[in-house]
Amino acid sequence: MERVRPLASDVEAAVRAAMAAALPPEHAAADPLVRRSEHADYQANVALSLARRTESNPRGLAEALRDQLTGEDWIRAVEVSGPGFLNITLSDAALLDRLAVRARDDRLGVPRSQAAEVAVIDYSGPNVAKEMHVGHLRSTLIGDALARTLGFLGARVVRQNHVGDWGTQFGMLIQYLLEHPEAAWRDKELDASGTAGAVSALDALYRAARGAFDGDPAFKERAQRRVVALQAGDEETTATWREIVAESENAFQQIYERLGVLLTQADVRGESFYNPWLQEIVHALREKGVLEDSEGAKVVFFDDIRGPEDEPVPMLVQKSDGGFGYPATDLATIRHSIRTFHGTRLVYVVDARQSQHFDMLFKTARRAGWLTDDIQAVHAANGTINGPDGTPFKTRAGGTVRLADLLDDALERAREVVAEKDPDLSPEELDAVARAASIGAVKYAELSTSRTRDYSFDVARMISFNGQTGVYLQYTHTRIASLLRRAEEAGHGRGRFRPALTLDPAERALALTADEFTAVLTAVARTLEPHQLANYLYTLAKAFTTFYESCPVLKTDVPTEVRDNRLALCDLTRSTLGQGLELLGIAALERM
Ligand code: ARG
Repeated sequence: MERVRPLASDVEAAVRAAMAAALPPEHAAADPLVRRSEHADYQANVALSLARRTESNPRGLAEALRDQLTGEDWIRAVEVSGPGFLNITLSDAALLDRLAVRARDDRLGVPRSQAAEVAVIDYSGPNVAKEMHVGHLRSTLIGDALARTLGFLGARVVRQNHVGDWGTQFGMLIQYLLEHPEAAWRDKELDASGTAGAVSALDALYRAARGAFDGDPAFKERAQRRVVALQAGDEETTATWREIVAESENAFQQIYERLGVLLTQADVRGESFYNPWLQEIVHALREKGVLEDSEGAKVVFFDDIRGPEDEPVPMLVQKSDGGFGYPATDLATIRHSIRTFHGTRLVYVVDARQSQHFDMLFKTARRAGWLTDDIQAVHAANGTINGPDGTPFKTRAGGTVRLADLLDDALERAREVVAEKDPDLSPEELDAVARAASIGAVKYAELSTSRTRDYSFDVARMISFNGQTGVYLQYTHTRIASLLRRAEEAGHGRGRFRPALTLDPAERALALTADEFTAVLTAVARTLEPHQLANYLYTLAKAFTTFYESCPVLKTDVPTEVRDNRLALCDLTRSTLGQGLELLGIAALERM
């Protein structure tokens, strides 16, 4: 396997060497500031930044660097432009040689740069007895894309689904179910789409139990006793709890399968999983001197976390009644990720509104000595999904929007859009394509947005063959696949890069973009922002579309060598697009 450096790194190295040769040592270590350019292949902006710092003439500096660079045979031209930009154009042969190496490798030349890491990724985390709602979609899709990408880069990935399966609300649910066996969700039929029927019924149970809890003091008392029974491991209580949990988890699994995310039942470590360690966590924190007593509760204070009146805000580890909450459980997750999985990178893909919780969590774990300097802990925060009108997403009745309903809407829309584009599809084909297109569209809309930003869930906009959509990317993939099939049928094979050729501008642009794949994946691994990959794939698809409009491939008057080279470029584009879509969890289709 050949692991190839991106051309941009070679350009950067060449500019660095030129700097070392032409500049005094104290300036030679500056960042060369190499970028893709509209006027050449790359531009280096270092002369401008250095000149500003040293109050010297930027053009003079740029010219000195140019003179050093001009000897390189893989560089076709170096020009100084404007106030001191260095415009660098590579030779066509260098470009094609590099692509040929990528094309020969089944990893497209992408090195396993994360091989030393164990990434423990906590994502999705829906709550039992509640419908999986639109809020959990973001964490689920972003977490999955990160798991795929870090895994492809060689990290050992441990997926963790921190399902909310514990807490005082179970007292009221179990009590209600025992008192009203007719409310049993287990007798309800699955709804039409075959998904989440049991959880919908659980949702109804949740509302009924809540109503009784809030309205009937006697029921409230029985429910509270039921919590104690659950915590004490009472048999009947535990059995009912287990049924509720199992039924919910089945429904979650159906959604995961429908979405095509990697999470399985084996990845579930619910809150209840950590119960046995909570007391020990308190002891350990006490021993390390991290814990303080405050009005009967056991808490941790922080110098730099303060409320609106500058009062210290505590993290509540154990309540005065002895109960543990979310923070205690998460202290156990962090210790578990380190001790059991030997995680080197702990990633929590969770709603941005929990950022203070994670801030407190990581600080406490560092003070307790569990999180050491060689381990990175990150809250990969995600923003909110709004409704199509930009306001918080609610049903007309004001309730939370069910994820399953949104996916149904998307499917319906995809069916219309795909049928219109291709009226000849058989009903089965239409069904399969519409499914893949609707899931792809929902995922792409999510993953092309910076994860911290809020966005609007707008089915009409996300399912379209035009614009920056999943459908457009899948369609571009099918166009290239069909072109390659026709080439095979015509006996042209898959093509071959021909470094002796002179390239058209659209070929160069496509080639340079295809070469950026490694750098983009490296950036996603660093920032944990999958939208960098999503946006890159759109740039790649557009570069292909422009290329295909101006560079014929299969027309009879195209010289053999040119066709070979173009076919190789198409094939590499298809593999790159296909691999990139797979890392986002989006199906790369052969036909559409
Ligand atoms: N169940 C939580 C919620 O719905 C998300 C869990 C996130 N993971 C964690 N380790 N806290 O808000």
